[in-house]
Amino acid sequence: MAPTSLTTICLLVYLSFGAFWRSVRAKDVPYNWEVMYMSGAPDCIEKDHIIGINGRFPGPPINARVGDNVVVYLTNKLHDEGVVIHWHGIRQLETPWADGTASISQCPIKPGETFKYNFTVDKAGTYFYHGHLGMQRSAGLYGMLIVDVEEGKKEPFHYDGEFSLLLSDWWHKGIEEQEKDLDATPMRWIGEAQSLLINGRGQYSCTLTVPANSKNSKGVPGCKFTGKEQCAPNILDVEPGKTYRLRVASTTALASLNVAIESHNMMMVEADGNYLQPFIVKDFDIYSGESYSVIINTHELSTHNYWISVGVRGRDPTKTARGFALLHYKSTGVSKRPKHPPPATPLWNDYARSKSFTYKLFALPGSPKPPPNYDHRIFLLNTQNYFEGKTRWAINNVSLKLTDTPYLGSIKFGLTNAFDQISPPETFIDTYDITKPPPNPNCRVSSGVYNLNFGKTYDVILQNANIIQDGVSEIHPWHLHGHDFWVLGYGDGMFSEKDEGKLNLENPPLRNTVVIFPHGWTAIRFMTDNPGVWAFHCHIEPHLHMGMGVIFAEGVHLVQNIPKEALSCGLTGEMLMSQNHN
Ligand code: C2O
Ligand code: CU
Repeated sequence: MAPTSLTTICLLVYLSFGAFWRSVRAKDVPYNWEVMYMSGAPDCIEKDHIIGINGRFPGPPINARVGDNVVVYLTNKLHDEGVVIHWHGIRQLETPWADGTASISQCPIKPGETFKYNFTVDKAGTYFYHGHLGMQRSAGLYGMLIVDVEEGKKEPFHYDGEFSLLLSDWWHKGIEEQEKDLDATPMRWIGEAQSLLINGRGQYSCTLTVPANSKNSKGVPGCKFTGKEQCAPNILDVEPGKTYRLRVASTTALASLNVAIESHNMMMVEADGNYLQPFIVKDFDIYSGESYSVIINTHELSTHNYWISVGVRGRDPTKTARGFALLHYKSTGVSKRPKHPPPATPLWNDYARSKSFTYKLFALPGSPKPPPNYDHRIFLLNTQNYFEGKTRWAINNVSLKLTDTPYLGSIKFGLTNAFDQISPPETFIDTYDITKPPPNPNCRVSSGVYNLNFGKTYDVILQNANIIQDGVSEIHPWHLHGHDFWVLGYGDGMFSEKDEGKLNLENPPLRNTVVIFPHGWTAIRFMTDNPGVWAFHCHIEPHLHMGMGVIFAEGVHLVQNIPKEALSCGLTGEMLMSQNHN
């Protein structure tokens, strides 16, 4: 008797102290991270020069609540390259220097050095983080970032439990070689990914689509897993008759994806940290840089397990192994094979299907509405070009090349030698034929920025076009830093006056990433209310590497307290040195 009550008392003391401690400390979520090279076999094939954090790939998840301060002490343990981490979807209100973009918001963290990221997470949602220097994201530098509603507050939907699925694509070739290939004259394309990974796990040399002792139609053997292998699929343990939230984010370097769960409908409820008007799907598309939450109800009774499958959209997927995870009902054995094969991915080039999904995304009633009018409108033509014989992507015929001095510092301190002072054009000729390869394939390369007026409403019309090859136009997911934007509409062909009336000002979804479809346009609206310098770019890593992005500067004179460590390179570095000497 006595020991029991003693235990009870201790437990009570512990619980109340724990609760007290949590409420006092709710403001700070500290992390100590070391970025390092690792080797491993995420898709059953051994690879080195994977970039991980604290010996983990993918990096550890961040879990925070609205209002928390996330503090990450990031130490660079790579031997000979810099590193930064971008917190994708976090707007960095009042902390633009913590956006983690090399050459834009900060200097790369040098090997052996530590940088303190310190920012407030102000909006609940599903986010992720990733490297933003060269192609380090593609080398594995990424992880989840989950922001829950404040203590005591509720989401506008109910769930009993939740899981995160971070999706990525995987190449066996290292990024050094990939970058060299992309920069070659002529360019050598990196090709399609070998595998798709869910939470860093995929299967390349075996397949889960057939039982362990058989082979699929291409002769690939069924996987034999004990469950301990690094490449064994993720298992989501669920109970019958419950409701779960799946948080799905895509940090692919290239692939557009489709997610399906056998025999379970999904209700779309969140996109990029903003609530959606809920709707039910059997599968959904997700582009690089996007995140969604879906709600599933588990069956009341089940003696089966079910496959979750991820496949490629928009590019020929025959060379890329699909990704799988297992929805495991606790009412049945985990080793029990699902009765049915994984759901098939829709035809990769069924663009009508992709569009019809994307066009169904609307904001939950009560979400912030866009201002009814814009102050400025920028047209951005997306083309593939050449520059000095190398393949580049260009926006209004200008291909982005970043400089050594981060823009945030150089603009704040008026260092006009730091980058090209000529801004890229805000529009393109309206006689441009987007159905044909560019008439003049050569573009300009520049580090110029768009200087946006502060406190205004901006529209951007993203106009897709034909690439250099006849009859081809590609998908590009565009991601904006420092903001959410309203997606006002999409259309096929060239945007024109007659499309004006089609723009949705009633319930457009708020997002930070939006796709442009082949030969089509997408219109977005946002407010320049966040002082800083923000990248707006295609989230396909090799496309960004080849110049597919622009830089927006807004209200930089209002930016305060840029830490010295963010400025310690290039011309701002020299400026700091000379100040020290005076
Ligand atoms: Cu998720 Cu500029 O990137
Ligand atoms: Cu692109």
